[in-house]
Amino acid sequence: MHRRSVEDPEGFWGEIGRELPWIEPFTEVLDWSEAPVAKWFTGGKLNASAICLDQHLALRGEKKAIIWEGEPGDVREFTYRELHAEVGKFAAALKARGLKKGDRVAIYMPMIPELTVAVLACARVGAPHSVIFGGFSAQAIRDRVEDGDCSVVITADGGWRRGKVLPLKQEVDAALEGYEGVHSVVCVRRGENEVAWTEGRDCWYHELMDAVEEPAAPEPMDSEDVLFLLYTSGSTGKPKGIVHTTAGYMAGAYLSTRYVFDLREDDVYWCTADVGWVTGHSYIVYGPLANGATVVMYEGAPTTPHPGRFWELCEKHGVTIFYTAPTAIRTFMRLGDEHIAEHDLSKLRLLGTVGEPINPEAWIWYHKLIGGERCPIVDTWWQTETGGIMISPLPGVQVTKPGSATRPFFGVDAGVVDEQGQPVEDGKGGYLVIKKPWPGMLRGIWGDEERFKETYWSKFPGLYFPGDGAVRDEDGCFWILGRVDDVLNISGHRLSTMEVESALVSHPSVAEAAVVGMPDEVTGEAICAFVTPRKEIEDPDALEKELIIHVANEIGKLARPKEIRFTDALPKTRSGKIMRRLLRDVAKGAEIAGDTTTLEDYTVLAKLRGDEA
Ligand code: WT7
Repeated sequence: MHRRSVEDPEGFWGEIGRELPWIEPFTEVLDWSEAPVAKWFTGGKLNASAICLDQHLALRGEKKAIIWEGEPGDVREFTYRELHAEVGKFAAALKARGLKKGDRVAIYMPMIPELTVAVLACARVGAPHSVIFGGFSAQAIRDRVEDGDCSVVITADGGWRRGKVLPLKQEVDAALEGYEGVHSVVCVRRGENEVAWTEGRDCWYHELMDAVEEPAAPEPMDSEDVLFLLYTSGSTGKPKGIVHTTAGYMAGAYLSTRYVFDLREDDVYWCTADVGWVTGHSYIVYGPLANGATVVMYEGAPTTPHPGRFWELCEKHGVTIFYTAPTAIRTFMRLGDEHIAEHDLSKLRLLGTVGEPINPEAWIWYHKLIGGERCPIVDTWWQTETGGIMISPLPGVQVTKPGSATRPFFGVDAGVVDEQGQPVEDGKGGYLVIKKPWPGMLRGIWGDEERFKETYWSKFPGLYFPGDGAVRDEDGCFWILGRVDDVLNISGHRLSTMEVESALVSHPSVAEAAVVGMPDEVTGEAICAFVTPRKEIEDPDALEKELIIHVANEIGKLARPKEIRFTDALPKTRSGKIMRRLLRDVAKGAEIAGDTTTLEDYTVLAKLRGDEA
C-alpha cells in the first residue's frame, strides 16, 4: 500500500477519497498547478459534519460517539444519533443568530462535549472555526479574533481545571472590550460561575437550543472551502492562522486515524489532547468521528483529584487506544509507579505519543508500565500545518524503535537534506523535508500568502520545510531532532521566542529581552529569559515574579518563563542581532561552544558566565 501511495499518489488518494460520503463527486484528485497552494479532490462537494455524523446514522446510530467525563467526575455520553441531533440543532441556532457560510467563528471553551458540538456545528454551516486554546489570555484571544475577523465567539461561563472553575467568559469579555466586530457571544453553562452580560450580544447556549424548531442540514461545501483556521507560532512575528480546507484534510484525518491507530469497531479511543490544539481537531474530533469511533473526552487536569486520574479513566471507560504526549508521560514517571498498579489497564492494546521527541527512557517506561509490554507504541510526527500524522509506525507492521517515529505514512514522501537542499546520507543529520503534496497539507496562512511561501517553501525551493531537523537511519527510520529555528516546544506546545520577548518588553521595567529554551525533565523545554532592566532594580525576586505574571497575562500561563536572569547587556553581533545560540549555552550551564568571533562585546558574555558561577 505504501509503495503504491508514493508511486501513484493520485490513484491511491482517489480511492481513499471515494470512501468519503460526497454530496457531489470530485472530478480531479490533485491540482498542483498553483504550487505551493494545492487543490485536492476538486469539483466535489461534501460536508465535514456529515462525514462525522450523518453517514453513521444507519449503521452506528446507537453506538457511543462520545464518552465524556468532567473533572469533578460527572459523566455524559452521546450516541451518534444524539450527537447528530445536537449538532444539527446548534447549527440551526447559529444560523438563527445570523451566522452564514464563510463567516468565521472563534471557539474558546473548556473540554466539554459542547466544544465538539460547536466545532461540528460550524462545519455544518460552512463557517470556518478558529479554536483558541482555553489557556490563552484575553490579549491572545483578541489578536486571533481580530486576525480571523470572527463575528461570533462560542465560549462557556467556566470550566474545571485543578479543582477550580476557570472563568472563560470573563476572559472573552476582556478580549472584546471596545471591539465591535463580534455580534454574538454564545455561552455554554458549565462552571455555574457568575458572568457579566452584554445585552444583545451575549446569549446562552441552552436558550438558543430551546428555541430551535428544525435542525440544520449540512451545507454542501466545495472540497477546497476553508474548514478551519488554527493559530500556531512561527519563529518571527505574530502567530500564524494556519488554513485547512475540507476534503483533503478530512481524507488525511480519516485515513491516518484508521491505520495509525488500527481502529476497530469496538475500540474505546482516548486522545488526551485539548481540542484547542491540532491534535484535538484531527484526533479527537474529525478523524475518529469520520471513522465512527467511540471517543473518550476528559475535561480536567491529568492529576486531579489524584495522581492516578488518567489510569482510573482508562479502567472505568475500558479504553483500548490511548494517545498522549511525552510531557504527560514524564510527569507520570515522576509521580511514582504505585498510582498505576492500582488500576486495571488490561484493555489497552495500543499507545501513541505526539508533540515532541520522546526520550527512549520515557518510551520504555510507557511500554512497560502503561502498555504492560504488550501494546505497540506509535510515535507520531506531524504539525499543525500538516493536518494529520506524517511519520509514524503502523502498529503490528513495523518494528518500533524507542525514540524514532519510524517511517512516513501513506502518500508521504519525506527526506533529509543539507543546507543546499541536497539529500544527505542515511545516518547523517540534516533538515527534514516533504517532497510531494499531501491531502491534509495547509493551504496557506490566513491573510498572508507571502509569509506562507516564505516560511515553508523558500529555504528549499520545491520542498516543504517543516522547521525540524532529522536523521534517517540505515533501516529508513526517521529520528526527529527537534526544531532548527527559534521556536520553543514547551510540553508539546509551540511558542516563538519572539512572542515571549515582546510580552516581556511590553512591561515598563524591561528595556530588552532575549528568550531561549533550556532542557527540562518534564516539559521537554522550559523558557529561560534574559532581561535587561530599564534602571537599577531594587528587588530582583519581586520583579521576576511580576514579569512571570505579566507574560501569563499577555499570552497565557503556558508561556511563563521558568527562569528570568537579569543582565546589563545581551550578547550581540556587530550588526545588533542577539546571539541566542550563546544564551542557550549559558541557560544550560554548558561551556560556550562554537564561534564567538562575531560577538561585539566579549565582556557581556563573561559577565553572563560570571553570574553562572
Ligand atoms: C512540532 C509541531 C502535531 C501535533 C502536536 C504539535 C514537534 C510533534 C513530534 C514527534 C518529535 C514532534 C515538531 C513539530 N513534534 N510531534 N512525534 N517527535 N517531534 O503540533 O504545535 O504544530 O508542533 O512539534 O517539532 O514541528 P505543533
